[in-house]
Amino acid sequence: MDQARVVATWQRPGEVAAQVGWERFLATGDLKDSLESGLAAAEENPDFLGIGRGSLPNSDGELELDASIMDGRTLDLGSVCALRGILPCITVARMVMERTPHVMLAADQARRFAMEQGLVPQNLVTEEVVRRYDIWRQDPVNGARYVHSTDDPPYEPPHDTVSMMGWHAGHLVAASSTSGMPFKQPGRVGDSPIAGAGIYADDEVGAAVATGWGEELWRAGASLRTVEFMRAGLSPDDACTATLRWLLRRRPGCTEKPNVVVAMNNQGEYGACSLGCEFQLWVADASGLNVKVYPDSLETF
Ligand code: GLY
Repeated sequence: MDQARVVATWQRPGEVAAQVGWERFLATGDLKDSLESGLAAAEENPDFLGIGRGSLPNSDGELELDASIMDGRTLDLGSVCALRGILPCITVARMVMERTPHVMLAADQARRFAMEQGLVPQNLVTEEVVRRYDIWRQDPVNGARYVHSTDDPPYEPPHDTVSMMGWHAGHLVAASSTSGMPFKQPGRVGDSPIAGAGIYADDEVGAAVATGWGEELWRAGASLRTVEFMRAGLSPDDACTATLRWLLRRRPGCTEKPNVVVAMNNQGEYGACSLGCEFQLWVADASGLNVKVYPDSLETF
């Protein structure tokens, strides 16, 4: 499979997603199966704070999950937002794409659709989620710092949306899954389920995904902007940098939280740019499973 590659964002969940996704690709040769399996594996793992079971809840203590998938060959797209109590969230997004004439279902009606398709509601709030929620509720400012601390191995940065891209001989698929901003206002939706913001794929050019502060990445139309920079001739690295330079110029306050854009062109070349933190991208291909670390670009902008 020299002509294939799968990438996934962030150190801990990204490794699981890329490994499972790559194995699935080798078994089926299907990029949608690959990305769905990779994200579903990360969603199921209760150790990851930014995705699926055991992730950080909204301000009511409930998990509201967002996910999306886009096929670069057809521009087919499926997404769900503010979905409660259903896993895999990415599977529901794919069902929206393949079993409805729509591109997004939201909240209770997304849940109803998932149940109609045979998925069974379950409690995704673990004891650890309750513990972290209680810390936050008692002291939202310092508590939030504590539950986000990276000092202790189970803790992760606040934004760790898992976004993936798969490439096979000129064809691309992009997908993303997240519990969104920790302790968000109930009903809040970020960039991840929004085509053009959190994900975009077009086989004519390439694909891009974003992870970080959803409101800012959505304002930037970060993924579509990055694909369009590649269409204009920029490399994946340069396209990601151009998008974050644009965001920083138009929204200087975006540096309050990290923002990352990752891109892959239809030749399988990939790149990324990170503003506000060091960023890890897992890459699975014929050479194996490897992590690439991108420094914080803020100093160089
Ligand atoms: N980037 C994920 C979110 O803000 O919801």
